[in-house]
Amino acid sequence: MGWIVEEAGFDPERVTTNGNKFMLGNGAIGYRGTLEEFTKDQLTACTFAGLYDKVGDQWREPINAPNGLSTRFIVDGEQLSLFSSEYESHHQSLNIENATFQRSTVYVASGDNRITVKSQRFVSMKHLDLILMRVQFHSSEDCEVTVQTGIDGDVWDINGPHLENYESLKRDGVIGLSAVTHELHKTVCVAEGIVWEENQFPENDVRGADTIYRSIPISCKAGTTYSFVKYVAVISGEQGDSPMESALSSVKAAMNTSYEYQLDRHELLWKRRWELTDVVIEGDKEAQFALRYSIYQLQIIAPTHSERVSIPARGLSGQVYKGAVFWDTEMFMLPFFLYTQPDIARNLVMYRVHTLEGARRKAAEYGYRGAYYAWESQDSGDDACTLFNITDVFTNRPMRTYFRDKQVHISADAAYGIWQYYEFTGDETVLLDGGAEVILECARFYYSYSYYKEEKRRYEVLDVTGPDEYHERVNNNAFTNALVKMTLEMALKCLDILKMNHRKAYDALIERLDFAEDQHNLSRMLQGLYMPQPDPLTSVIEQFDGYMRLEDVDQKTLKSRILNKNEYLGGGNGLATTTQILKQADVVLMLHLFKNLYSQEVKKANWEYYEPRTEHGSSLSSCIYALVASDIGYADWAYRYFMRTATIDLTGESKQYVGTLYIGGTHPAANGGAWMAVILGFAGIHMDQGRVCLNPSLPGGWDSITFAIQIKGQRFRLSINDIEASIHSEIGNHSAQAFVIGTEERTLEPGNGLSSRYIGKERGDGLVG
Ligand code: BGC
Repeated sequence: MGWIVEEAGFDPERVTTNGNKFMLGNGAIGYRGTLEEFTKDQLTACTFAGLYDKVGDQWREPINAPNGLSTRFIVDGEQLSLFSSEYESHHQSLNIENATFQRSTVYVASGDNRITVKSQRFVSMKHLDLILMRVQFHSSEDCEVTVQTGIDGDVWDINGPHLENYESLKRDGVIGLSAVTHELHKTVCVAEGIVWEENQFPENDVRGADTIYRSIPISCKAGTTYSFVKYVAVISGEQGDSPMESALSSVKAAMNTSYEYQLDRHELLWKRRWELTDVVIEGDKEAQFALRYSIYQLQIIAPTHSERVSIPARGLSGQVYKGAVFWDTEMFMLPFFLYTQPDIARNLVMYRVHTLEGARRKAAEYGYRGAYYAWESQDSGDDACTLFNITDVFTNRPMRTYFRDKQVHISADAAYGIWQYYEFTGDETVLLDGGAEVILECARFYYSYSYYKEEKRRYEVLDVTGPDEYHERVNNNAFTNALVKMTLEMALKCLDILKMNHRKAYDALIERLDFAEDQHNLSRMLQGLYMPQPDPLTSVIEQFDGYMRLEDVDQKTLKSRILNKNEYLGGGNGLATTTQILKQADVVLMLHLFKNLYSQEVKKANWEYYEPRTEHGSSLSSCIYALVASDIGYADWAYRYFMRTATIDLTGESKQYVGTLYIGGTHPAANGGAWMAVILGFAGIHMDQGRVCLNPSLPGGWDSITFAIQIKGQRFRLSINDIEASIHSEIGNHSAQAFVIGTEERTLEPGNGLSSRYIGKERGDGLVG
């Protein structure tokens, strides 16, 4: 195992899953783990971050660029294919340490001729528009081989076709294919150059309506290896730019170097990324690999280059889920970036600043003030979620869903991301650069959304959908109310900070947003907001008003009522709607987010109540059950849920299709959840008033974990085993940092280390009820 994901043999049934599992990417583009001879039929995709298109009334979704790696071999007139040719062996692997994909296939051609095709590719971390691939082949007998390699513009689209007006060109040996997007008329260009490593071969151009290939006939000598490198640039641009010129020059510049040179640069950056993010687990190889793989998946989709894109719910693994950004980013992925690469975290939260106008439009559309963020957000911040987001499998008709209208916690999630970044880094510029405005506008939205109940003398948040989407349009969802309260608090604190430290900016913002009265309203609402409390007898917090009156059925019974394996359990007629079965962590997520506000007794009672009733119909659920299980000392459960979340993209065991709709892809929220389960769960790390608190409890069999974190621009290395935690403050750190290990508080000076024994400490001691 180590750092390699591999598969031997070829199973057509695994092509889709492997497309996700063997993904490459660099935050700007993602390239699915398909083979270079594959086409749209095998869901080949080179997906752009942040570039979307809409055709007619269909869903708006990201653009897949033409495939510049497309390469096929024709031997004695027959195209080699794992689907139809005879082959002796096939092997493919992904090295997650340096982010390279490799394949090796031995075909059996006419007679006993063994043709070996090998390739290696990477999506450059150094030049974000570049993909490189080295191809090598040899035969055991002399034979005629035609290599066809070029750019395939016949791309996989779910709701396309998104590209039109294809044009191809060839200049100084470099070929190019450009097309224009349907909606916004952006230009998408792919340029490709090849360099043979030893011999040179004449080539013919073969052009189709949306393809350009080189056809290269070669008389292969038995035992001689032929090899070439493909340099591919993938660029998009506004109308009037010349992205093709950029793509051509990018390819030419790369061709003037070498494959090794580019790979070196790419590897260097990956080495650095791993230094910042790796978590070494001693004593459990399987967990080690699953966690590293999860971190790998987060790294290949992290936008290092732009604060105008965030991470979609399915990463860059294609057009699934409209390439939309959900709350997944702030609540499930952001902690990983905050603790390891705060610059990327800043990009992610600034995305919400840049999409604030869309959120204002959505609030206004529903008759509210402030900012109501898109449930499914794309480039403009307008909501890509439709009112009929699911198709009923029984009637084949679109079903009215309320994700878009009622999942109001999304605004709190967006604001929380910004606040988390600010608190974690102390970087006030994020507030001044628009972050404060987002937080204030989200708070204002909640004021305008909530109701004051005169007879109860309290504010309530009615008609919402919480994380558990199976129960739509409920009142006083405990999680939502808690997040609304948090948003009000953040807004008021934010105003205090600005007033104290940036008086001019404060005055300007209050005036521009006309916020003076709102400020007063927010304080009043905060005083009077209803927060569902633990039941005095059972300590269970009711998920929403009336939840306890729903049918209390077990999951087995509920599942026995299912008529169609793809039927939707929520919505108007869903089987779960009238029961207490929930889709994903809801109250339990609240207990994780506000872990210091609830006693162990309350956390235990709620975990135990909701766990058997949670269907985990979302990949966001398991990690939260792992985190709270860790917190309350249920180590076995924590481990089980951790492994479930950490292996999701390795096993591919998640729903791939609903009806005919492909909903597979990678699961970055679960990947981020795996990291959280280890660092925030097993290591028990959290921040408390600038102090880093550790409350470790490693799973049985784990000898130790070692990892690095960054706090306010300073780096620390932590090593934790069964009895002791050691922390080292790196040289170059500028000031002392307080740590609380168990109950002991210690201050660490730059360049120093400390060790502290924590054994014997009960998990969660010292929490207030
Ligand atoms: C979950 C949401 C999540 C979305 C994207 C849905 O199935 O219920 O909470 O944001 O998937 O991952």
